[in-house]
Amino acid sequence: MPRKILVTSALPYANGSIHLGHLVEYIQTDIWVRFQKLRGHECYYVCADDAHGTPIMLRAETEKITPEELINRVNTEHQQDFADFAIGFDNYYSTHSSENQYFANLIYKNLASAGHIERRTIKQFYDPAKEMFLPDRFIRGECPHCGAKDQYGDSCEECSKTYNPTELKNPISAVSGTTPVEKESEHLFVNLANFTEMLQEWTKCLQPAVLHKLEEWLETGLQAWDISRDAPYFGFEIPDEPGKYFYVWLDAPIGYMASFKNLCDKKNLNFDEFWAADSQAEIYHFIGKDITYFHCLFWPAMLSGAGFRKPTSVFVHGFLKVDGQKMSKTRGTFINARTYLNHLNPTYLRYYFAAKLSNGVEDVDLNLDDFLQRVNADLVGKFVNIASRCANFITKRFDGQLAAKLADENLYQQFIDAGDIIATAYENRDYNRAVREIMGLADRANQYIDEHKPWVLVKQEGGDAELHAVCSQGLNLFRVLMGYLAPILPTLTKEVGKFLNAPITWQPTALVVHNINNFKPLLKRVEQKQIDSIIAASKETLVATAPVAKTAEKIADTISYDDFAKVDLRIAKIVKAEHVEEAKKLLKLTLDIGEDKHRTVFAGIKEAYQPEQLTGRLTVMVANLAPRKMRFGLSEGMVLAAGPGKQDLWILSPDDGAEPGMKVK
Ligand code: MSP
Ligand code: ZN
Repeated sequence: MPRKILVTSALPYANGSIHLGHLVEYIQTDIWVRFQKLRGHECYYVCADDAHGTPIMLRAETEKITPEELINRVNTEHQQDFADFAIGFDNYYSTHSSENQYFANLIYKNLASAGHIERRTIKQFYDPAKEMFLPDRFIRGECPHCGAKDQYGDSCEECSKTYNPTELKNPISAVSGTTPVEKESEHLFVNLANFTEMLQEWTKCLQPAVLHKLEEWLETGLQAWDISRDAPYFGFEIPDEPGKYFYVWLDAPIGYMASFKNLCDKKNLNFDEFWAADSQAEIYHFIGKDITYFHCLFWPAMLSGAGFRKPTSVFVHGFLKVDGQKMSKTRGTFINARTYLNHLNPTYLRYYFAAKLSNGVEDVDLNLDDFLQRVNADLVGKFVNIASRCANFITKRFDGQLAAKLADENLYQQFIDAGDIIATAYENRDYNRAVREIMGLADRANQYIDEHKPWVLVKQEGGDAELHAVCSQGLNLFRVLMGYLAPILPTLTKEVGKFLNAPITWQPTALVVHNINNFKPLLKRVEQKQIDSIIAASKETLVATAPVAKTAEKIADTISYDDFAKVDLRIAKIVKAEHVEEAKKLLKLTLDIGEDKHRTVFAGIKEAYQPEQLTGRLTVMVANLAPRKMRFGLSEGMVLAAGPGKQDLWILSPDDGAEPGMKVK
């Protein structure tokens, strides 16, 4: 019986580019969907841009365009990136759509009439200059626990404690640079506690590690969820609540429904068959671990409270690391989809991710050496090689026609039988297991060719019949394997289908007395220099886009010339740069400011620079800043750096000719 399945990936935010981290998810989902379709199920894959919220509103403002212009531009860019990675959405939409507004209103009204919505007056930081309430992420200040400077409004990156923005010392609005004030406002909340029992039952469908986390949350008790935001906000205004908007995370998951509704209207599908409370269809959401709370608590609560069915399950994956570390702009490992595409074939990355992905929530490591080695050895050297070893003999010696019968039916049958284990692995999202099985079979196929030596047969008197049989067998085995790899390598599958002049299917019957087309090399080897170019280009992109800071900082109040003259700025040479144990943000710099004077400065640039990048460089320092005692030692001055912070920070460098100790005038 064909199953009816609706699958989604999380909706990427409409204010940034797709990067390789995102692609872990879209590739993982796409493989699963292609697998289901290949096996004959009725499966739909929908997604959309997540277009609402404060960051998008502010980003549009800095770019001096309307939010609509921004989200349309990004939507086009996202769709192109996805298409080029062969992500086969049945529909890609936007949360800024009439369907989404309709369902957001409906769900909200249903929740309200079922008594799940309550009102509360809360106190929040308000930016009087911008006349807007500030989300936690747009407030910076000193950590109330450890005193670390320049921390976000919700948690400290030095001591990892969480807190309320109003607890920050010396808070500053990241939007205008002014001091925010506390202001009251009435918000709407979903009373999540009403759903505790339902969630205790429903969460049993989740991965063990996810369930474990959720049990902790459920035990501590669920807090009511704030779903409204005050104007100005880019989103949907709440019905009968002028000036109040749905919080972006309310309408974002509803975007799954809206995108599917949009598909239903185009394809004449029955929406209710999938979403009605008594639906027999399956619904799965693929997400990253950072958004578990929204998908495994809020979303099922909203759905059930509003009279819809709940997801069959939510599949959670881990985060992408590159060479064992968090993606980093300074290291050039924060790689955008487009940067990758400019240098490398997407097929490689799809293969590599599949080879690494399991159904757990562990992080996925893109090890660049391993990537090159594995793609070349497995995909090119093992798999595609089967075809290159057989095809030309068939074309040149046998007029492109395969033999009348299989040489080794038994071996062919073993390949077919292995399909069940591979199918189970795909179904369970154990892609690394599937790939291992398939590559084991590819070894067997190569072994078969090695044993029968077509390159010897071709020179043997009377060797033709066997040559024909062996190469036909080889190509038939290749076709079975292509069928197994089809969910992972859709583009290659298409090309192989053309070359073999036959459909690529799951567990196919063998091709006999069948004409194939000329063989063209299917895949080149990855070269180290291509990887190097990607890393270099990822560093470049950063510099090129750096000036477009996400939050424009306002120019400070005017000072007099005398005020300025008090600051003694000097050219300094960084003679030594070292890590400081236990400090997450600081590097210890030893600066030469001429006449053998050395200064020690602790600079918060650790996330932006490796010490070795700095040694020997010239920069500019404030030489007469009062020394400050820090946890790690005395800091005797300050180096000048610009940028929004963290990885995006650039120290200033003088032009050639400047020398340590020169005064900046
Ligand atoms: N807009 C929200 C999702 C709303 S869904 C109703 C969002 N967007 S996102 O662009 O930040 O992330 C989209 C998906 O990509 C999320 O599932 C997220 O976990 C995943 N990833 C983003 N960065 C990632 C990595 N570095 N590694 C793996 N997955 C990552 O969250
Ligand atoms: Zn702290």
